[in-house]
Amino acid sequence: MSKTRVALLVGSLRKDSFNRQLARAVEKLAPEDFGFEHIRIDNLPLYNQDFDGDYPPECRRLKDEIGAADALLFVTAEYNRSIPGVLKNAIDIASRPWGTNSFAGKPAAVLGVSVGAQGTAMAQQHLRNVLAYLDVSTLAQPEVFIQHKEGLFGPDGAIGSEGTRKFLQDFVDRYVAWVRRHG
Ligand code: FNR
Repeated sequence: MSKTRVALLVGSLRKDSFNRQLARAVEKLAPEDFGFEHIRIDNLPLYNQDFDGDYPPECRRLKDEIGAADALLFVTAEYNRSIPGVLKNAIDIASRPWGTNSFAGKPAAVLGVSVGAQGTAMAQQHLRNVLAYLDVSTLAQPEVFIQHKEGLFGPDGAIGSEGTRKFLQDFVDRYVAWVRRHG
């Protein structure tokens, strides 16, 4: 059986990023025929429209990886009530040159964890706006706003609390159905 390829973009470069940990925990809740590829965004140049005539190799690599995916999953931190610049930069790069938007037509979902009580709600709202413009169909519900607390992740990297694990399993089930419907 061929796997559904999910391009996973994490909006944080921090070594011990809670969002990367969340991405790994969520991956484990998905069925076997879903394969997640962690897309590297830390080695991209800052987008410059002068690239468009001759796209740099790392930017082409990003576009190829996004383009080859069946679906997208964004797990993002919130910086100053918005999308961290490193993720927005990657999105800008993969959306260009004009007419070659690598995201177009793909199903997606967004989620995130922050230390703040709103759990990345504002960053996700901004991201949804960007993705709508890029012709991405983003799962509307359930919204996943997680506040980081001690014990969120167990020693094995899985979700530590039963309630949160069940909530995330429901999210993943809805995401999988969303992606299959777009297949
Ligand atoms: C933050 N943080 C933060 N948290 C939040 O809930 N809302 C916010 O607007 C911000 N703004 C913000 C700006 C900057 C520049 C930094 C460095 C941090 C705190 C943030 O939630 C915390 O650092 C998380 O740990 C970031 O996610 P990762 O890196 O652990 O995935």
